Amino acid sequence: MSTGAPSAPAPLWVSGQRSAADSLRVLAGRARRAFLRWVVCRGDTVAYLRRQGMRIGPHAALLARVEDFGTEPWLIEIGARVSVAAGAVFVTHDGASRVFRERIAGGSAFGNAFAPIRVLDDSMIGLRAIIMPGVTVGPRSIVGAGSLVTSDVPPETVVGGFPARVLCRLDEYERKYRDRMIPGLSSHRGELRRQLTERFWGEAR
Ligand SMILES: CC(C)(COP(=O)(O)OP(=O)(O)OC[C@H]1O[C@@H](n2cnc3c(N)ncnc32)[C@H](O)[C@@H]1OP(=O)(O)O)[C@@H](O)C(=O)NCCC(=O)NCCS
Repeated sequence: MSTGAPSAPAPLWVSGQRSAADSLRVLAGRARRAFLRWVVCRGDTVAYLRRQGMRIGPHAALLARVEDFGTEPWLIEIGARVSVAAGAVFVTHDGASRVFRERIAGGSAFGNAFAPIRVLDDSMIGLRAIIMPGVTVGPRSIVGAGSLVTSDVPPETVVGGFPARVLCRLDEYERKYRDRMIPGLSSHRGELRRQLTERFWGEAR
């Protein structure tokens, strides 16, 4: 039960309170974004996110979904040659304050705790990692798959875990990688498939 009057009109995401006019507004917003993304930006994720205010350096490879950069993409900066794997999620605000938010006089309906995220040049964010508000990664750092990153990742460092901890320095990881790598692999998908299926299954698949 609330102990005071809300300081702002109920936001659109509060269930059961949406009027017909609200629904139309939501629909119009979705249509506008879809037009911008698929017609104006021709489905190019980087071009669309740049138009949404995200700073993205040259040769960045963003494999996460547009939605995974959150509701404030304009609070995210991605450096040159950064890779973001599928399923990585960027969090730039603290929704947990909903528990007490409406008791704070003068508070925003969107909360009042936001912080930018920076991924500096030549860094890599692993599959399904979660990057929390205020975090800076890199440059030349790696966030392991499935990590929860709550504090800065120093330059040239590999982190992993939930929450993430330092696993090793970049040069150690590179040394290990070179020792374990499969030499002579093709840069063409079809040939790579043949090479790897023969190696692991004993036949081309
Ligand atoms: C983080 C990473 C770079 C580490 O690689 P690595 O050093 O070769 O990893 P290893 O298998 O030698 O493991 C080294 C240690 O790190 C731990 N570790 C490895 N990956 C981890 C991860 N993602 N989260 C937490 N711990 C991890 C291992 O458990 C091991 O710990 P131990 O020494 O206590 O046994 C790699 O595991 C990773 O997550 N790469 C990203 C993969 C990805 O997202 N691919 C997307 C395709 S686009």
